[in-house]
Amino acid sequence: MSAKRAFVIGYPIKHSRSPLIHNYWLSKYDIPGSYEKLEVPPDRLDAFLSEMDRAGYCGGNVTLPYKERVFAACATVTEMARRIGAVNTLWREGDRLCGDNTDVGGFLANLAAESPDWNVDCDRAAVIGAGGAARAILVGLASRGIPEVKLLNRSSDRMLKLAEEAESWGFRRIRTQLLNDDRGALDGEALLVNTTSLGMTGQPKLSINLDGLRQTAVVSDIVYSPLETDLLADARRRGHRISSGLGMLLHQAAPGFERWFGVRPEVTPELRNLIIDDLQQAHS
Ligand SMILES: NC(=O)c1ccc[n+]([C@@H]2O[C@H](COP(=O)([O-])OP(=O)(O)OC[C@H]3O[C@@H](n4cnc5c(N)ncnc54)[C@H](OP(=O)(O)O)[C@@H]3O)[C@@H](O)[C@H]2O)c1
Repeated sequence: MSAKRAFVIGYPIKHSRSPLIHNYWLSKYDIPGSYEKLEVPPDRLDAFLSEMDRAGYCGGNVTLPYKERVFAACATVTEMARRIGAVNTLWREGDRLCGDNTDVGGFLANLAAESPDWNVDCDRAAVIGAGGAARAILVGLASRGIPEVKLLNRSSDRMLKLAEEAESWGFRRIRTQLLNDDRGALDGEALLVNTTSLGMTGQPKLSINLDGLRQTAVVSDIVYSPLETDLLADARRRGHRISSGLGMLLHQAAPGFERWFGVRPEVTPELRNLIIDDLQQAHS
């Protein structure tokens, strides 16, 4: 088998843990190949996309700030990528650039792994944020038939625009509220998801009163550094089940690996510990 090469592109890209994940799987499954971290400046992105197969790459991942630009550059996208309007997984079919978005699948697979019955009685969810990740999570909740969502965001314009778009995705009711609004933000939700960068190392803390959550609610944070954000620690203390951003990161990587290297990889405790060690070293 000839060695295949894949990549993750972004700008900046230093922080990406994707090479650790994919190179772990390449070694575990004894597949000849490589996965590289490439910093591509904005004025080089188009040239990179048109030259990637000549440069020897079969595909790769796309991260901030390029998910929307790469979506627009793709000739073919999956239904999931089309709904989200962003691509995080890329490959070529002949001369066609093709894209998928595996963030939603990663989020849902992780929730299912950590709280298998999360959607049994989940008639109401709250999502904090209104950016690309919030959009992806809403698409995921709609795909699981969650009838009612509440969107909470710092700024109003983006939140209202997203809520308006999401009206056609099958929700029965979508409510919105500014994050700094003093009224109780939560009201009997069975799932709360933070999709903002609040709570991430170096960012301000997310401040939200969890009193209104259902006692059996699952609290999920897509931030993975720190591993347990203040939001998750607070939720754990209150007896909620929690779901971490690291799990989403690991699960979203699997479909791309399968597409490029032909093996559906497993998210193992060993892989999880590898990334945890790396995150801890970066902050020590
Ligand atoms: N675990 C994973 O696998 C995974 C996957 C994808 C993304 N992520 C993480 O998700 C986060 C968001 O990504 P994104 O693509 O959605 O980014 P984005 O499109 O830039 O949206 C950022 C969101 O965070 C809010 N925000 C940022 N700074 C804030 C602050 N100081 N106070 C209040 N709200 C603030 C923004 O509010 P405004 O609208 O008011 O600006 C917006 O809702 C990133 O940290 C990313 O690393 C993780």
